[in-house]
Amino acid sequence: MPKALTIADLKAQAKRRVPTMFFDYADSGSWTESTYRSNEEDFSRIKLRQRVLVDMTGRSLESTMIGERVSMPVALAPTGFTGMQHADGEMLAAQAAEEFGVPFTLSTMSICSIEDVASVTTKPFWFQLYVMQDRDFVLNLIDRAKAAKCSALVLTLDLQILGQRHKDLRNGLSAPPKLTVKNILDMAIRPRWCMAMLKTPRRTFGNIVGHAKGVNDLSSLSSWTAEQFDPRLSWDDVAWIKERWGGKLILKGILDPEDARLARESGADAVIVSNHGGRQLDGAPSSISMLPFIKDAMGDRIELHLDGGIRSGQDVIKALALGAKGVFIGRPFLYGLGAGGKQGVREALEIIRKELDITMALCGKRDIRNVDGSILWTEPKSLI
Ligand code: FNR
Repeated sequence: MPKALTIADLKAQAKRRVPTMFFDYADSGSWTESTYRSNEEDFSRIKLRQRVLVDMTGRSLESTMIGERVSMPVALAPTGFTGMQHADGEMLAAQAAEEFGVPFTLSTMSICSIEDVASVTTKPFWFQLYVMQDRDFVLNLIDRAKAAKCSALVLTLDLQILGQRHKDLRNGLSAPPKLTVKNILDMAIRPRWCMAMLKTPRRTFGNIVGHAKGVNDLSSLSSWTAEQFDPRLSWDDVAWIKERWGGKLILKGILDPEDARLARESGADAVIVSNHGGRQLDGAPSSISMLPFIKDAMGDRIELHLDGGIRSGQDVIKALALGAKGVFIGRPFLYGLGAGGKQGVREALEIIRKELDITMALCGKRDIRNVDGSILWTEPKSLI
């Protein structure tokens, strides 16, 4: 693959290699995409303090997320259809993350199954759970994640009902893609993607098909997913899931201080400040702008993570300075995957690692664990 210097380079490469339907799926937000845009834009409004004549040798990016050692505090976010950005995408991304020493989170809506990913990794990965109305299916998923020795359950709270994404509706998103003339032509000009896809048997949702009652083909799958997200999900459900899981629990999708206070009472180990990458409530504030308010509401009792709009190491350090212990990246690793499979995910992580390392040094810090609000030019809350 051509050398990429930035995440934007990987995005441009992915756009050439991945069929439009799946590239658009990654590169989209809900409705007007205003929240999707502000997730990225708001980072540039936060200013870092430039320090000089500080010893910059012996730097370390090592840290922990929910007590697990990480080579840098950046995890791969759960993303659906990842095996459509590149054949066997979840397996390749999980391997790249493992080699890099950062956590990988497998989505419920993944193409490769929990068992597929477990079969190609040696260290535990994290599993993201969507609570479906079919509770037997949910219980079974939790048991499968336990059997695969997943070390954390990431429970997504902000998708009880699906935000509308115009691009997906226009493109007729499905896995596998329907063989319309438009899709066939679009795939035909991307032979590398097609060849790799023809070689793998994994072309639809591996955690669902053959596991959920009555789901055995594309049409039963689409009606099942359309009606299965649970609009009645409540904090009581969080309690029984926590009990059934019995391990580390991360709540994903907290954006409001009131919900943050409720999350604090839930006994979770960590919370991800997130608006689902701008894919759910369009018009919601960016995640980075809400981080200081959530931090105030939660205090230090629960570890705070953030996702949404991180495209560089500079963005990572800003999130850490505003109180996150770690961050998750979604699209940056998907672009890498689409651009070059496992090597592309590695490149995405390496780009962010390098930027983070040099930025930390230029801010006058040598150890990522010592990064705090002192590296920001003004008080956090007046910035955004
Ligand atoms: C997501 N996200 C997501 N979240 C989740 O809990 N389960 C999922 O299956 C998915 N699927 C998904 C697909 C795609 C293509 C994207 C881009 C995102 C949200 C994801 O975990 C994360 O919150 C955002 O991606 C973070 O924003 P950035 O890093 O993509 O800007």
